Amino acid sequence: MKLVAPSILAANFNKLGDDIEMINSSEADFVHCDVMDGVFVPNISFGIPVIQAVNSISTKPLDVHLMIVNPEKYIEDFYQAGASIITVHYEACPHLHRVIQQIKNLGIKASVCLNPHTPVFLLEEILSELDMVLLMSVNPGFGGQRFIENTFRKASALKEMILQKNLSTLIEVDGGVNFEVGKKLYDSGVDILVAGSFVFNSANPTETIAKLKQL
Ligand code: DX5
Ligand code: ZN
Repeated sequence: MKLVAPSILAANFNKLGDDIEMINSSEADFVHCDVMDGVFVPNISFGIPVIQAVNSISTKPLDVHLMIVNPEKYIEDFYQAGASIITVHYEACPHLHRVIQQIKNLGIKASVCLNPHTPVFLLEEILSELDMVLLMSVNPGFGGQRFIENTFRKASALKEMILQKNLSTLIEVDGGVNFEVGKKLYDSGVDILVAGSFVFNSANPTETIAKLKQL
């Protein structure tokens, strides 16, 4: 699959509504919402009220990436705010299986994110429970960073695991995505590209989204 999730971390927060309208009118498949708590990652972004506001005008499903400790405390709140997919970090969840069940019991999609240093084989015993795996291709916390090349290898290894187990788990990659990287990611078995600064800093974001889907 070739799907695109623009990350609103790179949007203009003074005109967030306009940027959501742009996404609505584009070929984007999701709105990627980056929630950062200043503890799990060294940055603070936005939280539940902003996601609620985005959801009230978005025609695209919200792909909520929780870069927070103790995500289990807030799963219900993010669901109520309108999340269609909730991603928690492997590194933030000692009881990952329980958190995944918590998300799935709400009837929405459950996903696990791996930091760049976390190997995909650690998902061996949980993969069949997941709708999606998010591979970080930068260290989480900031937009506009350089893509880490090792991600191609991780994506291929993960795709192999998924096929071997006969699963239909989607693979999403987040950080430093552009046309060149995006093409190679699709070729490595990635289904969803997250793109923040590449979309919002481009002259024509709608066109950039369309082109990301046609790589
Ligand atoms: C980083 C976030 C990303 C970020 C990607 O911690 O998870 O979603 O917005 O931004 P770009 O595409 O600019 O690297
Ligand atoms: Zn993200």
